[in-house]
Amino acid sequence: MAGNITLTMIKPDAVAEGHTGKILDMIIAAGYKIQAMKLTRLPKRKAEEFYAVHKERPFFGELVAFMTEGPIVAAILEKENAVEDFRKLIGATNPQKAEDGTIRKLFAANIERNAVHGSDSDENAAIEASFHFSGLDRF
Ligand code: CMP
Repeated sequence: MAGNITLTMIKPDAVAEGHTGKILDMIIAAGYKIQAMKLTRLPKRKAEEFYAVHKERPFFGELVAFMTEGPIVAAILEKENAVEDFRKLIGATNPQKAEDGTIRKLFAANIERNAVHGSDSDENAAIEASFHFSGLDRF
């Protein structure tokens, strides 16, 4: 059965360019309830931990540098079929391949600076939600 939460990060590019409000509007209009949310800046060690699955990839160093260059907005989003529906809403990792109307098509520059993160499975959504938020911060 599909889980009902996903974890998003509005990434440093989109926050710095002032797209946070527009992206949150799209998320809410798509039917998501915000369970938890914060504006924060990832220390290098935490960015490396979050993206540890990519540590052997050639882009890992650049990815960590990008994700720590400025503040992000992290949020836990709740809705039926949350993970799969959110990945449709944000579009392909590479914005050039993303469908029209998706968040990445509208706001992302390239495959690395791609405006938003969305969990790729229910299992990772639970891990990523706990990475950013304690139970006390979830509503
Ligand atoms: P995200 O969905 O947060 O998950 C992994 C991130 O790595 C991805 O978004 C991009 O920001 C980045 N990424 C994935 N593939 C590449 C790539 N080929 N080159 C550079 N960055 C990438």
